[in-house]
Formats: sequence, C-alpha cells, structure tokens
Amino acid sequence: MSILITGGAGFIGSHTCVEMLSAGRDIVVIDNFSNASPKVYERVKTITGKDFPLIECDIRDEAKLDEVFAAHKIDAVIHFAGLKAVGESCRMPVEYYDNNVGGTVTLLKSMKKAGVKTIVFSSSATVYGSENPVPFREDMKTGGTTNPYGTTKYFIEIILQDLVKADPEWSVCLLRYFNPIGAHASGLIGEAPNGIPNNLMPYIAQVAVGKREKLSVFGNDYNTPDGTGVRDYIHVVDLAKGHLYACDRALSVKGCEIYNLGTGNGVSVLELITAFEQASGVKIPYVIAPRRPGDIDASYADVTKANTVLGWKAELNAFDACRDTWNWQKKNPNGYDD
Ligand code: NAD
Ligand code: UFG
Repeated sequence: MSILITGGAGFIGSHTCVEMLSAGRDIVVIDNFSNASPKVYERVKTITGKDFPLIECDIRDEAKLDEVFAAHKIDAVIHFAGLKAVGESCRMPVEYYDNNVGGTVTLLKSMKKAGVKTIVFSSSATVYGSENPVPFREDMKTGGTTNPYGTTKYFIEIILQDLVKADPEWSVCLLRYFNPIGAHASGLIGEAPNGIPNNLMPYIAQVAVGKREKLSVFGNDYNTPDGTGVRDYIHVVDLAKGHLYACDRALSVKGCEIYNLGTGNGVSVLELITAFEQASGVKIPYVIAPRRPGDIDASYADVTKANTVLGWKAELNAFDACRDTWNWQKKNPNGYDD
C-alpha cells in the first residue's frame, strides 16, 4: 500500500514525506520541480533513513500519470502540487487555472482510470473570504476570494465535492491550511522561496540572515489588538502530521470531509517579529508600510473538528516555528542552492 504525494518536493510536501516515512508508510512522490529542488530527495532520505521513488512528473501530463499509477500500487493521493503565489496569480491567472484547476482535473481522470478514489487536498483558509467572523469554522460560507490563486482553491473544493455527489465511492478530504511556517528541526528541509518572499516568515528570516535590509509591516491600523494583521501560524511539522491523520481517515470513511488545520491562536505581525527576535537573538528592523491590497484583519481557525474527529492537534507554537525557521535559514541562507 503506497500513498502518492503530488508536489512532494515542495515545502509542505517534503515535511509530509518525512512524517509519512517516519510513521512507516510507503510513499511515491511526483513533482515537476517548478518550485522545488531535487536535492530534497537526499535530505528526506537522510532524515528518515528510508528510500522512496521520486518521479519527475507534471500533474497535467495524463499519460505520465497513468504510467505512475500502473507502476505502483497506490491506495490514496495527497495532492499538494500547485502554484501558490497570490500576486503572481493576479498577473498570470490563466497559468494558475491551468496548473491548479486543470492539473487537478487531469489527476482525477487518471485516478479514476486506476481505480484510486481517495484524495486529500491542500486547500487554504483563503476560501473563507473576507466576510466571515473569526475563528473560521468548516461549515461557514466559502467563496468571495480576492485573487485567482484563492479562486483555484475554491473551484477545486467544488469539483471534489461534485465528484463525491456523483460517485459515493470517492473519499475526499479537504484540508484548509492556515499559515504554515517553520522547518524540520534538523535544519535539512525548509521553505525556499524564489526571489523576494511574499510571505511574512520567509521575509523575516531573510532580514535576519542579512539578505534583506528591513521588513515592511503592511498596515498598523487593522481592527486587531496592536493594529497589525493577525494570522494563525502553524508549524509545518504539525501540519505535515495532520496529513497522516487525514489520510487514515479518508481511507476508512467515504464521502467528503473538511478540516481546518491551524493552531486556533491568532498572532499579530508585531508578535511574530518579537517571537523571532527572541528565538534567534537577532534584531529585525522594520518600518510601517501601507496595507497590502486584499489582506484581512484577522484569520484564525476553529480547530475543534480536527481535534475531535481526526484526533490531531498542533503541538508546537510560534516560538518553536521561529526557532526552527532560523535554524534552517542560517544553515541554508540560499535555500537548496547552498
Ligand atoms: P510549494 O510550492 O513549496 O509546493 C508545491 C509543489 O508542487 C512544488 O514542489 C512544485 O514544484 C510542485 N508543482 C507545482 N505545479 C506542479 C505540477 N503542475 N505538476 C507537478 N508538480 C507541481 O508550496 P507549499 O507551500 O508546499 O504548498 C503546498 C500546497 O499547499 C499548495 O497546493 C498550496 O497552494 C497549498 N497551501 C499552501 C499554503 C502556504 O502558505 N504555504 C497555504 C495554504 C495552502
Ligand atoms: N505581512 C507583512 N509584511 C510582509 C509580508 C506579510 O506585514 O512582508 C503581513 C500581511 O499583511 C499579513 C501577515 O503578514 O497580515 C501574513 O501575511 P502572509 O503573506 O505571510 O500570509 P497571508 O495570510 O497573506 O496568506 C497566506 C498564504 C496564502 C493563503 C493564506 C491563507 O500566502 O497562500 O495564507 O491560508 F491563502
């Protein structure tokens, strides 16, 4: 029994490979390396002491996917592969719909042919839009996404829900991630963004290591305790472990289930800066800058369902994630290019 992991060489995927292998699961990984390094393979093997197939494959390539399903006995798919930069998606919407939505449809066609009907999908808290009150609960209205990236997640959720309605033999688990940060404690794998980071944590880490001069804090007039944006930062190792629980659940229960994966705690931009300074001992210079279009005041999860139904709970906090990010960043200032 093997689990196929699409996009398994990426940030969350590589950490999930480690947790799956460490739990004794067999995995097959595919990635087109559009946002990942093949070096991840050796690092994951070093951490776990286990080998696994890593196949260069684009999820839009149906013939190649069919070959992968024919060559391996796959029971379920954990589907991470996708493009994820919000700003880029506004400039290149067609590429995002093609890669994320089109790629998922091609993957589903190939799964169907192979008789594999269990999928765990990487969705995002972004599907809650800007109208819902925090904390976000799985049964709240979704949609109202403000960029093509977020809309791809919303569309794919609907496609997967329609699939289950049409064929109750399918088992779909939609995981709505909040803000994944941190790195494996070994410092061997972590987040390696291309170019200037869009997200807060990698930007802070690059300021700390001297690659960027200062952080811009996007707005201090939000309706939050200190005026800066509040998010639910979840350690990537906790998030990766959540996939083990979700995959086991999907393999035993048919239908479509939705889970928030977050900590349930809101942390502001200024609080994350302070946590990073304490964890690293490095001062992070910052300036207050205008708001970033599309940002909301606060986003954090109600995690009751994941805690009670999946039996999964985040164990690490923002300080742990800052410590592990710093360990990764200082050992790999240029990511996998070092
Ligand atoms: P990532 O870019 O590190 O990983 C995605 C991986 O998919 C990369 O290795 C990339 O090379 C691969 N990929 C992209 N398109 C592909 C294709 N057509 N065929 C095969 N491989 C392809 O991103 P991540 O942070 O690890 O995110 C994983 C998933 O989680 C994504 O679907 C992302 O949208 C979702 N997600 C991420 C966040 C976040 O903040 N990191 C939040 C919510 C949801
Ligand atoms: N921020 C700054 N300065 C920066 C970067 C970010 O102040 O240089 C602030 C933002 O304004 C926001 C907070 O830090 O208040 C977090 O921003 P991120 O860009 O790190 O994360 P977002 O919450 O905007 O978005 C992330 C992912 C999306 C995903 C969303 C919900 O990037 O893909 O979480 O899951 F959809």
